[in-house]
Amino acid sequence: MKNFMDNKNRAVVRVPGTSANCGAGFDCLGLATTIYNYLDLTLLKKNKLVVESAGEGAENIPRGKRNLAWQAVQRLLKEIGRADEFKGAIIKTKNNVPISRGLGSSSTAIVGGLVAANEIFGSPLDKNGLLKLATEIEGHPDNVAPAIFGGFTVSVMDKGAVQTFSFLPRIKLKLIVAVPDFELSTRLARKVLPKNVSMRDAIFNISRASMLIAALVEGREEFLPFAFDDALHQPYRKKLVPGMTEVFDAAKSAGALGAAISGAGSCLIAFTAAKSGLENKIAAAMVEEFKNHDVSAKALILNVDKHGAQILKR
Ligand code: HSE
Repeated sequence: MKNFMDNKNRAVVRVPGTSANCGAGFDCLGLATTIYNYLDLTLLKKNKLVVESAGEGAENIPRGKRNLAWQAVQRLLKEIGRADEFKGAIIKTKNNVPISRGLGSSSTAIVGGLVAANEIFGSPLDKNGLLKLATEIEGHPDNVAPAIFGGFTVSVMDKGAVQTFSFLPRIKLKLIVAVPDFELSTRLARKVLPKNVSMRDAIFNISRASMLIAALVEGREEFLPFAFDDALHQPYRKKLVPGMTEVFDAAKSAGALGAAISGAGSCLIAFTAAKSGLENKIAAAMVEEFKNHDVSAKALILNVDKHGAQILKR
């Protein structure tokens, strides 16, 4: 029997979970983290779709045509003009990223499907080409961009096209993520936002988002305590995450440089310099404070992923 690994229509990729917004950078900043989902794609000429999922949320991942990774694979095939030739696929995923918690699990499926299919055809699209398709599927770039590029990303939408700048911070950070035991849909978390914001709140965020990027790029840790707060989305989402403000305060009292909702929630993320050695103390403080609000949570201590999606096997 032909060795399955020799199949030229197969690729295996690893995609990082991501945290969007980073406080003040609503819908434009994101970072890749060292928690990963794995996707094993085999393209089939026949019209047959097999989806097998293991790990986080496996029981709720659609197995049919609604499967997000399959939609991404089909979009890539259409883009490169091979959709008539490959009508089916075997998609196996192993997921570590919690679902519907603001850690970019849907982006891992989209980016995984795109990157794996692209690899099978010898990478006709570069990272910017993949980003364009991923943003089109996801609707906004702030999770898919770091999942593709790694590191921190700043994305700008201009006339419907996305421009992403990715960089590695000059401060080695530890990311402390408190993962509550409830899901939060991005749709609901966007529904509670106002249509318009005040000039004062806009200035509040522009100044902090700018400070965050400048401090990370130049390695100026002393400016980070002024860089993570937000006035555009967190005040409105507070009611969806019991104890949000108090968990932020607990993280900061334990030594965090700042804290924010991860993406649209429900996770909360705190930041500390790796050299502080405070990550376990901050994690315990966040979990304990969630408990004070009757929310059971677990903590993840992560680093910034430097690579973005990676091909593991071909
Ligand atoms: N920037 C988006 C939001 C991220 O906060 O709604 C969603 O994953």
